[in-house]
Amino acid sequence: MSLPTSKLENFLADDQLNKSQILDLIALAKKIKANPAEYNQALAGKSVAMIFEKPSLRTHVSFDMGISKLGGHALYLGQQNGKLGERERISDYAHNLSCYADAIVARVFENQAIEGLAKHASVPVINALCDLYHPCQALADFVTLSELFDDISSVKFAYVGDGNNVSNSLMLMAAIVGVDFTLVCPEGCGPEGDMLAKAQAFAKQSGSKMDFTTDIDALGEQDVIYTDTWVSMGDEDPSKKAAILEKFAPYQVNHDLMAKAGATKVMHCQPAHLGEEITTELFDDKDMSVVFQEAENRMWAQNAVLVTLLAE
Ligand code: NVA
Repeated sequence: MSLPTSKLENFLADDQLNKSQILDLIALAKKIKANPAEYNQALAGKSVAMIFEKPSLRTHVSFDMGISKLGGHALYLGQQNGKLGERERISDYAHNLSCYADAIVARVFENQAIEGLAKHASVPVINALCDLYHPCQALADFVTLSELFDDISSVKFAYVGDGNNVSNSLMLMAAIVGVDFTLVCPEGCGPEGDMLAKAQAFAKQSGSKMDFTTDIDALGEQDVIYTDTWVSMGDEDPSKKAAILEKFAPYQVNHDLMAKAGATKVMHCQPAHLGEEITTELFDDKDMSVVFQEAENRMWAQNAVLVTLLAE
Protein backbone atom coordinates (compact mmCIF):
# COMPACT_ATOMS: atom_id res chain seq x y z
CA MET A 1 0.00 0.00 0.00
CA SER A 2 1.80 3.17 -1.07
CA LEU A 3 1.18 6.58 0.41
CA PRO A 4 1.59 9.83 -1.52
CA THR A 5 4.77 11.80 -1.12
CA SER A 6 3.80 14.93 -3.03
CA LYS A 7 2.20 18.19 -1.85
CA LEU A 8 -1.36 18.00 -0.55
CA GLU A 9 -3.78 19.07 -3.30
CA ASN A 10 -7.07 17.92 -1.77
CA PHE A 11 -8.23 16.46 1.52
CA LEU A 12 -10.43 13.56 0.46
CA ALA A 13 -9.54 10.41 2.37
CA ASP A 14 -7.17 9.53 5.17
CA ASP A 15 -5.18 7.10 3.04
CA GLN A 16 -4.31 9.86 0.60
CA LEU A 17 -2.07 11.36 3.30
CA ASN A 18 1.27 10.06 4.50
CA LYS A 19 2.45 10.01 8.10
CA SER A 20 4.41 13.24 7.96
CA GLN A 21 1.53 15.09 6.27
CA ILE A 22 -0.81 13.96 9.06
CA LEU A 23 1.68 14.86 11.80
CA ASP A 24 2.30 18.26 10.16
CA LEU A 25 -1.46 18.95 10.07
CA ILE A 26 -1.82 17.96 13.74
CA ALA A 27 1.07 20.25 14.69
CA LEU A 28 -0.32 23.13 12.61
CA ALA A 29 -3.81 22.71 14.11
CA LYS A 30 -2.31 23.01 17.60
CA LYS A 31 -0.25 26.04 16.53
CA ILE A 32 -3.30 27.83 15.10
CA LYS A 33 -5.32 26.94 18.21
CA ALA A 34 -2.60 28.36 20.46
CA ASN A 35 -2.24 31.56 18.45
CA PRO A 36 -5.22 32.23 16.16
CA ALA A 37 -4.29 35.90 15.71
CA GLU A 38 -1.18 34.88 13.80
CA TYR A 39 -3.40 33.26 11.15
CA ASN A 40 -6.24 35.76 10.98
CA GLN A 41 -5.29 36.86 7.46
CA ALA A 42 -4.22 33.44 6.17
CA LEU A 43 -7.28 33.21 3.91
CA ALA A 44 -7.75 36.95 3.28
CA GLY A 45 -9.54 37.49 -0.02
CA LYS A 46 -10.33 33.79 -0.38
CA SER A 47 -13.78 32.22 -0.61
CA VAL A 48 -14.79 28.66 0.19
CA ALA A 49 -17.96 27.05 -1.22
CA MET A 50 -19.49 24.53 1.19
CA ILE A 51 -21.87 21.93 -0.23
CA PHE A 52 -24.01 19.96 2.21
CA GLU A 53 -26.15 17.07 0.95
CA LYS A 54 -26.75 15.91 4.54
CA PRO A 55 -27.51 17.68 7.83
CA SER A 56 -24.68 19.13 9.87
CA LEU A 57 -24.10 21.10 13.03
CA ARG A 58 -20.40 20.85 13.93
CA THR A 59 -19.04 20.58 10.40
CA HIS A 60 -21.07 23.49 9.05
CA VAL A 61 -20.42 25.81 11.99
CA SER A 62 -16.77 24.89 12.48
CA PHE A 63 -15.96 25.42 8.79
CA ASP A 64 -17.93 28.66 8.57
CA MET A 65 -16.53 30.20 11.74
CA GLY A 66 -13.10 28.69 11.21
CA ILE A 67 -12.85 30.25 7.74
CA SER A 68 -13.92 33.59 9.19
CA LYS A 69 -11.19 33.30 11.85
CA LEU A 70 -8.69 32.90 8.99
CA GLY A 71 -9.98 36.08 7.32
CA GLY A 72 -11.76 34.20 4.53
CA HIS A 73 -15.36 33.96 3.35
CA ALA A 74 -17.54 30.84 3.45
CA LEU A 75 -20.66 30.27 1.36
CA TYR A 76 -23.15 27.60 2.46
CA LEU A 77 -24.85 25.65 -0.32
CA GLY A 78 -27.55 23.44 1.12
CA GLN A 79 -29.87 21.05 -0.62
CA GLN A 80 -31.64 23.69 -2.71
CA ASN A 81 -29.92 22.25 -5.78
CA GLY A 82 -30.86 18.67 -4.87
CA LYS A 83 -28.53 15.70 -4.91
CA LEU A 84 -25.21 16.40 -6.59
CA GLY A 85 -25.25 15.29 -10.18
CA GLU A 86 -29.03 15.44 -10.60
CA ARG A 87 -29.69 19.03 -11.69
CA GLU A 88 -26.41 19.25 -13.51
CA ARG A 89 -23.39 17.01 -13.92
CA ILE A 90 -20.91 16.87 -11.05
CA SER A 91 -18.22 17.91 -13.51
CA ASP A 92 -20.19 21.07 -14.38
CA TYR A 93 -20.85 21.77 -10.71
CA ALA A 94 -17.12 21.53 -10.06
CA HIS A 95 -16.16 23.67 -13.07
CA ASN A 96 -18.68 26.36 -12.13
CA LEU A 97 -17.71 26.54 -8.47
CA SER A 98 -14.04 26.71 -9.48
CA CYS A 99 -14.82 29.97 -11.32
CA TYR A 100 -15.61 31.68 -8.01
CA ALA A 101 -14.32 29.67 -5.08
CA ASP A 102 -10.77 29.09 -3.90
CA ALA A 103 -11.75 25.76 -2.32
CA ILE A 104 -14.75 23.44 -2.11
CA VAL A 105 -15.88 21.71 1.08
CA ALA A 106 -18.44 18.97 0.44
CA ARG A 107 -20.55 16.63 2.59
CA VAL A 108 -22.05 14.07 0.24
CA PHE A 109 -23.89 10.77 0.22
CA GLU A 110 -21.47 8.96 -2.05
CA ASN A 111 -17.71 9.01 -2.10
CA GLN A 112 -17.80 9.07 -5.90
CA ALA A 113 -19.37 12.54 -5.73
CA ILE A 114 -16.34 13.78 -3.78
CA GLU A 115 -14.01 12.05 -6.21
CA GLY A 116 -15.91 13.62 -9.11
CA LEU A 117 -15.69 17.10 -7.61
CA ALA A 118 -11.96 16.69 -7.01
CA LYS A 119 -11.37 15.35 -10.50
CA HIS A 120 -13.06 18.27 -12.23
CA ALA A 121 -12.47 21.21 -9.87
CA SER A 122 -9.44 23.37 -10.42
CA VAL A 123 -9.41 24.27 -6.71
CA PRO A 124 -8.79 22.02 -3.67
CA VAL A 125 -11.67 19.85 -2.46
CA ILE A 126 -12.17 18.88 1.19
CA ASN A 127 -14.29 15.87 2.18
CA ALA A 128 -16.65 16.94 4.96
CA LEU A 129 -18.07 13.38 5.26
CA CYS A 130 -19.21 10.82 2.75
CA ASP A 131 -20.35 7.21 3.05
CA LEU A 132 -16.77 5.93 3.32
CA TYR A 133 -14.72 8.56 5.14
CA HIS A 134 -14.85 11.43 7.60
CA PRO A 135 -11.24 12.61 7.46
CA CYS A 136 -11.88 16.03 9.07
CA GLN A 137 -13.28 14.21 12.11
CA ALA A 138 -10.35 11.80 12.29
CA LEU A 139 -7.80 14.61 12.01
CA ALA A 140 -9.55 16.56 14.79
CA ASP A 141 -9.62 13.41 16.92
CA PHE A 142 -5.90 12.87 16.46
CA VAL A 143 -5.34 16.51 17.48
CA THR A 144 -7.36 15.71 20.62
CA LEU A 145 -5.36 12.52 21.28
CA SER A 146 -2.14 14.46 20.96
CA GLU A 147 -3.42 16.98 23.52
CA LEU A 148 -4.36 14.18 25.90
CA PHE A 149 -1.24 12.03 25.56
CA ASP A 150 2.40 13.11 25.25
CA ASP A 151 3.20 10.29 22.87
CA ILE A 152 0.30 9.21 20.66
CA SER A 153 2.28 6.28 19.30
CA SER A 154 1.94 4.56 22.68
CA VAL A 155 -1.84 5.07 22.91
CA LYS A 156 -4.11 2.04 22.72
CA PHE A 157 -7.14 3.20 20.80
CA ALA A 158 -10.36 1.22 20.30
CA TYR A 159 -13.52 1.88 18.34
CA VAL A 160 -16.62 -0.02 19.41
CA GLY A 161 -19.82 0.00 17.35
CA ASP A 162 -20.82 0.25 13.71
CA GLY A 163 -18.09 -0.02 11.09
CA ASN A 164 -18.77 3.22 9.23
CA ASN A 165 -17.22 6.36 7.71
CA VAL A 166 -15.87 7.51 11.09
CA SER A 167 -14.34 4.16 12.03
CA ASN A 168 -12.80 3.85 8.55
CA SER A 169 -11.11 7.22 8.85
CA LEU A 170 -9.91 6.62 12.41
CA MET A 171 -8.62 3.15 11.55
CA LEU A 172 -6.70 4.36 8.50
CA MET A 173 -5.24 7.37 10.29
CA ALA A 174 -4.20 5.24 13.27
CA ALA A 175 -2.54 2.71 10.97
CA ILE A 176 -0.68 5.40 9.02
CA VAL A 177 0.62 7.30 12.06
CA GLY A 178 1.37 4.10 14.00
CA VAL A 179 -1.24 3.99 16.76
CA ASP A 180 -2.45 0.56 17.95
CA PHE A 181 -6.10 0.27 16.96
CA THR A 182 -8.77 -2.27 17.87
CA LEU A 183 -12.06 -2.28 16.02
CA VAL A 184 -14.98 -4.10 17.63
CA CYS A 185 -18.19 -4.38 15.60
CA PRO A 186 -21.13 -6.78 15.71
CA GLU A 187 -21.13 -9.62 13.18
CA GLY A 188 -21.86 -8.26 9.71
CA CYS A 189 -21.34 -4.62 10.77
CA GLY A 190 -17.58 -4.37 10.31
CA PRO A 191 -15.72 -2.31 7.72
CA GLU A 192 -16.82 -2.86 4.15
CA GLY A 193 -14.79 -3.62 1.05
CA ASP A 194 -11.03 -3.50 1.28
CA MET A 195 -10.96 -0.95 4.13
CA LEU A 196 -9.63 -3.36 6.78
CA ALA A 197 -7.04 -4.84 4.44
CA LYS A 198 -5.83 -1.35 3.56
CA ALA A 199 -5.56 -0.41 7.23
CA GLN A 200 -3.74 -3.65 8.05
CA ALA A 201 -1.24 -3.00 5.27
CA PHE A 202 -0.57 0.51 6.60
CA ALA A 203 -0.24 -0.81 10.16
CA LYS A 204 2.35 -3.29 8.98
CA GLN A 205 4.34 -0.44 7.44
CA SER A 206 4.10 1.77 10.52
CA GLY A 207 4.72 -1.11 12.95
CA SER A 208 1.43 -0.70 14.80
CA LYS A 209 -1.24 -3.26 15.66
CA MET A 210 -4.58 -3.38 13.85
CA ASP A 211 -7.08 -5.80 15.35
CA PHE A 212 -10.63 -6.45 14.28
CA THR A 213 -13.04 -8.58 16.27
CA THR A 214 -16.77 -9.10 16.71
CA ASP A 215 -16.20 -10.32 20.27
CA ILE A 216 -16.74 -7.47 22.73
CA ASP A 217 -15.07 -9.58 25.44
CA ALA A 218 -11.88 -9.52 23.36
CA LEU A 219 -11.57 -5.72 23.63
CA GLY A 220 -8.51 -6.00 25.88
CA GLU A 221 -6.66 -3.16 27.63
CA GLN A 222 -7.32 0.22 26.03
CA ASP A 223 -6.54 3.86 26.82
CA VAL A 224 -9.32 5.39 24.75
CA ILE A 225 -12.64 4.03 23.53
CA TYR A 226 -14.46 5.72 20.67
CA THR A 227 -18.00 5.17 19.50
CA ASP A 228 -20.44 6.60 16.98
CA THR A 229 -24.10 6.22 16.17
CA TRP A 230 -25.24 2.69 15.24
CA VAL A 231 -27.04 4.02 12.15
CA SER A 232 -25.47 6.71 9.99
CA MET A 233 -27.25 9.58 8.22
CA GLY A 234 -29.11 8.35 5.19
CA ASP A 235 -29.22 4.72 6.40
CA GLU A 236 -32.17 5.17 8.77
CA ASP A 237 -34.90 2.54 8.29
CA PRO A 238 -37.54 2.53 11.05
CA SER A 239 -38.44 -1.08 10.25
CA LYS A 240 -34.89 -2.18 11.19
CA LYS A 241 -34.51 -0.05 14.34
CA ALA A 242 -35.56 -2.70 16.90
CA ALA A 243 -33.27 -5.36 15.41
CA ILE A 244 -30.33 -2.93 15.40
CA LEU A 245 -30.89 -1.94 19.03
CA GLU A 246 -30.89 -5.61 20.01
CA LYS A 247 -27.86 -6.55 17.94
CA PHE A 248 -25.76 -3.63 19.13
CA ALA A 249 -26.83 -3.63 22.81
CA PRO A 250 -23.78 -5.65 24.00
CA TYR A 251 -21.56 -3.09 22.26
CA GLN A 252 -22.82 -0.09 24.20
CA VAL A 253 -19.98 2.04 25.55
CA ASN A 254 -20.65 2.62 29.24
CA HIS A 255 -18.76 2.89 32.54
CA ASP A 256 -18.58 -0.91 32.88
CA LEU A 257 -16.90 -1.31 29.50
CA MET A 258 -14.48 1.54 30.27
CA ALA A 259 -13.57 -0.09 33.61
CA LYS A 260 -13.11 -3.53 32.04
CA ALA A 261 -10.73 -2.11 29.43
CA GLY A 262 -8.99 0.22 31.91
CA ALA A 263 -9.76 3.08 29.51
CA THR A 264 -9.54 6.62 30.85
CA LYS A 265 -11.08 8.59 27.96
CA VAL A 266 -14.15 8.18 25.79
CA MET A 267 -14.61 9.86 22.42
CA HIS A 268 -17.62 10.40 20.15
CA CYS A 269 -17.92 12.44 16.96
CA GLN A 270 -21.54 13.43 17.79
CA PRO A 271 -24.45 13.62 17.36
CA ALA A 272 -24.81 10.95 20.05
CA HIS A 273 -27.83 8.75 20.52
CA LEU A 274 -27.74 8.79 24.30
CA GLY A 275 -28.74 5.50 25.85
CA GLU A 276 -27.86 3.64 22.66
CA GLU A 277 -24.18 3.56 21.63
CA ILE A 278 -23.15 5.51 24.75
CA THR A 279 -24.81 6.08 28.09
CA THR A 280 -25.78 9.61 29.10
CA GLU A 281 -23.72 9.20 32.30
CA LEU A 282 -20.54 8.43 30.37
CA PHE A 283 -21.14 11.09 27.69
CA ASP A 284 -21.55 13.64 30.50
CA ASP A 285 -18.65 12.32 32.60
CA LYS A 286 -16.39 15.36 32.95
CA ASP A 287 -13.25 13.28 33.60
CA MET A 288 -13.66 10.68 30.90
CA SER A 289 -15.60 12.30 28.10
CA VAL A 290 -13.69 14.57 25.72
CA VAL A 291 -16.50 15.04 23.20
CA PHE A 292 -16.53 18.83 23.30
CA GLN A 293 -12.73 19.03 23.05
CA GLU A 294 -13.10 16.92 19.89
CA ALA A 295 -15.86 19.22 18.64
CA GLU A 296 -13.73 22.32 19.17
CA ASN A 297 -10.75 20.68 17.51
CA ARG A 298 -12.82 20.17 14.37
CA MET A 299 -12.35 23.87 13.70
CA TRP A 300 -8.61 23.97 14.40
CA ALA A 301 -7.95 20.80 12.42
CA GLN A 302 -9.95 22.04 9.42
CA ASN A 303 -8.20 25.42 9.62
CA ALA A 304 -4.90 23.59 9.44
CA VAL A 305 -6.14 21.80 6.31
CA LEU A 306 -7.33 25.07 4.74
CA VAL A 307 -4.09 26.88 5.55
CA THR A 308 -2.05 23.99 4.14
CA LEU A 309 -4.11 23.83 0.94
CA LEU A 310 -4.65 27.56 0.39
CA ALA A 311 -2.15 29.82 2.09
CA GLU A 312 0.54 31.19 -0.19
N1 NVA B 1 -21.37 8.05 11.08
C1 NVA B 1 -22.12 9.27 11.26
C2 NVA B 1 -21.20 10.41 11.55
C3 NVA B 1 -21.87 11.72 11.83
C4 NVA B 1 -20.94 12.87 12.08
C5 NVA B 1 -22.95 9.53 10.03
O1 NVA B 1 -22.45 9.37 8.91
O2 NVA B 1 -24.11 9.88 10.17
